[in-house]
Amino acid sequence: MVDRTYRTRTLGVAASGVPDQYADGKAAKVWEFYIGGSRNRTEQYREFMCDLLRKRGVQNICDVACGNGVDSILFLENGFKVMSFDASDKMLKYALKTRWERRKEAAFDNWVIEEANWLDLAENHGNAEFPEGGFDAVICLGNSFAHLPDLTGDQENHRIAIRNFHEVLKPGGFLFIDHRNYDSILDCGKAPHRNVYYNSDRIIDIKTSVLHVNGEPTMITLDYIVDGTDEKKIQSGCTEKDLSKFRLSYYPHRLAKFDELLEGVFGKDTEHVVWGDFKPKGEIETPAYFIHMIQKKSA
Ligand SMILES: C[S@@+](CC[C@H](N)C(=O)[O-])C[C@H]1O[C@@H](n2cnc3c(N)ncnc32)[C@H](O)[C@@H]1O
Repeated sequence: MVDRTYRTRTLGVAASGVPDQYADGKAAKVWEFYIGGSRNRTEQYREFMCDLLRKRGVQNICDVACGNGVDSILFLENGFKVMSFDASDKMLKYALKTRWERRKEAAFDNWVIEEANWLDLAENHGNAEFPEGGFDAVICLGNSFAHLPDLTGDQENHRIAIRNFHEVLKPGGFLFIDHRNYDSILDCGKAPHRNVYYNSDRIIDIKTSVLHVNGEPTMITLDYIVDGTDEKKIQSGCTEKDLSKFRLSYYPHRLAKFDELLEGVFGKDTEHVVWGDFKPKGEIETPAYFIHMIQKKSA
């Protein structure tokens, strides 16, 4: 059941400024189960992204929404240099733990992880030293960007964040950014449970609510129920499940408007490709995700 009192996030998560929706630690604790573990990020996802990055000559990646580090780890394991940022210390804690556990591997020893907010990322990025001239690629994946609310009703926050991503790229560098297929969610009223990103059998349910303001859909909240039962408990034969419930909210980016947002910052006369679930747009009738690649113009 959705709460009677409308809340945009789990109780206990602060509601001022640009909130860290993961601050209560609930989603962070079971994120590994939700995404199916970093090893289970779909094979299709790994191949698609690594091929694309290699073909574009990418070496230095800036992961601006690293969360528990799932994408960063995948790229480190595949030979890329990665710097990772996130606004949530509760999520970063898991990335930092992995870096510590794998510190004997050179790639992980050199892995830079810092707390940062997209709204001032270009100026404030902790102790990270950006590569001279900028990154070859910025990635913002896993439906992360949609967490940024539109506080003014004109998407100014969204433009500020995209400008920051543009700024930290080298001329000719690429932004890879995705969002759920909100056009479809708004049309049919429900987000799909499993998809090319998250395919875990630990996802029990996801309930979708849409908030309209003056007839315009302005926020989507997803209520997740994830089976967070500890592996040791399962192996001991105990059948009782530890269900974890959390709520996250998203700005419902329509594809056409998202194209406009990106091209408003990067320009129209630059390469901008959109895939639906890693296939050329139009090949899959209703993809769960749209993935954009847009190039910063050469100086
Ligand atoms: C859905 S998680 C995705 C994490 C990871 N990329 C994945 O696919 O599993 C979204 C992440 O975006 C981060 N985030 C949301 N708003 C942010 C902001 N304004 N600045 C930096 N990170 C932000 C959250 O803290 C969270 O860790």
